[in-house]
Amino acid sequence: MERLQKIISQAGVASRRAAEKLIEEGRVTVDGVVASLGAQADASTQTICVDGVPLQKAEAHVYFLLNKPKGYISTAKDERGRKTVLDLLPEVEERIYPVGRLDNGTEGLLLLTNDGELMNGLLHPAREVWKTYVAQVEGHPTKQALQMLKNGVSLEDGVTAPAKVRVLDWDAKSGRTKLEISIHEGKNRQVRRMCEAVGHSVQALKRTEFAGLSLSGVKRGEHRVLSANEVAYLYELAKVPASGGRRKG
Ligand code: URA
Repeated sequence: MERLQKIISQAGVASRRAAEKLIEEGRVTVDGVVASLGAQADASTQTICVDGVPLQKAEAHVYFLLNKPKGYISTAKDERGRKTVLDLLPEVEERIYPVGRLDNGTEGLLLLTNDGELMNGLLHPAREVWKTYVAQVEGHPTKQALQMLKNGVSLEDGVTAPAKVRVLDWDAKSGRTKLEISIHEGKNRQVRRMCEAVGHSVQALKRTEFAGLSLSGVKRGEHRVLSANEVAYLYELAKVPASGGRRKG
């Protein structure tokens, strides 16, 4: 049993606040009886209607970890017909969405789910979920440049929060440096812009970790289902109440 406003918002009809209003206005019925605010229902066995229209049965929640290749955009649909990350999971019938974004030219770890509450929790800036990237940059950043990346650099949309940065490799032949950069923010093209701000353009970018999950065992273009333990851990991190999860299987 769950609160009606939660069921209605999970069905995508209205936000929780708006759903409460619908209930107060007497526009919601459970098995034909007008519901009052505070009522609970079981969406899997009862018929819940808003303005006489039954809610679609709630989908079971599914969670995937994808190793995104370059050349796929991180949206569910693209008006210009470009390849999206969903093209890489053709067998999934649920309406899943990527948890955040990776640029078209960035590869690596991307979570996908139809659990909107968990997704919003993980993306909420206050949760400070860490993401780790390996960036191949042009040139050889000085100690000073590395320190600037660590301390925070000034971008047009604000100063970045402190980051963890280390040099993994310096290739004299190509003149490029491999940096590992961990951040807990999600500004648009943040890693590329941070590196550019200290004078080093990014030639290749890969996300290797998200919220402590890694790409281990998942080849480029492939995906795997998250384990129940991993989902529980993400819930803890996103501070979503455990009742929010209706896991498939
Ligand atoms: N930072 C970037 O610059 N690009 C991404 O795709 C992710 C983080």
